[in-house]
Amino acid sequence: MNQDALKQAVARAALDYIAPRLDHNAIVGVGTGSTAAFFIEALAQIKGHFEAAVASSEATASQLQAHGIPVYDLNSADAVAVYVDGADETNPRLELIKGGGAALTREKIIAAVAEEFVCIADQSKWVECLGQFPLPVEVIPMARSHVARELVKLGGDPVYRQECETDNGNIIIDVHNMRIEDPRQLETAINQITGVVTNGLFAHRPADLLLLGTDQGVEQVRAG
Ligand code: 5RP
Repeated sequence: MNQDALKQAVARAALDYIAPRLDHNAIVGVGTGSTAAFFIEALAQIKGHFEAAVASSEATASQLQAHGIPVYDLNSADAVAVYVDGADETNPRLELIKGGGAALTREKIIAAVAEEFVCIADQSKWVECLGQFPLPVEVIPMARSHVARELVKLGGDPVYRQECETDNGNIIIDVHNMRIEDPRQLETAINQITGVVTNGLFAHRPADLLLLGTDQGVEQVRAG
């Protein structure tokens, strides 16, 4: 199966997983990226069976609204029953690298609120040790050079992502060449740098369930 077919398969599996768990008052959190986009197409089939969605990016909000799915501001949502999103990398503990689509901060906020976080990913995202994918860091623009210097001290090679402004008006620095043995410790350390909004490590709040698309089918993985 090609990668898009695997993404479509996990999107469908996510719908099958969440549909029986939603009631008419439920709010669904929706992530960003190509896998999440397939999920939105699937979610549209059960529109009306849940109250509304909250979106991790403007692009996702637009796609949801185009299907007639109401999109709430997160501050108007009492609770988020489930959050479904892709990832750039996942390890067996379901600690993730996210932010390839520059939506990491809003993604992390919704993940923090959600009662359950379901990650959907094709098999290319599975790694034993995080860090082959450059780690995205959202940064306040005036702090760019300072943050880059501090990231070098932590052992990384920071690269400014050209022509990228986040939905929050900030920039992204991608940190290359980090073998991330202790994701929680690094997540905390980077977030301590003044000027960092947040980084793309989802280790303190990992996924609860991974739906992993493989050539043999969609596997359900719980943190090991
Ligand atoms: C966006 C993300 C995405 O979940 C991540 O980049 C995966 O994207 P895709 O599903 O297109 O492979 O974190 O900020």
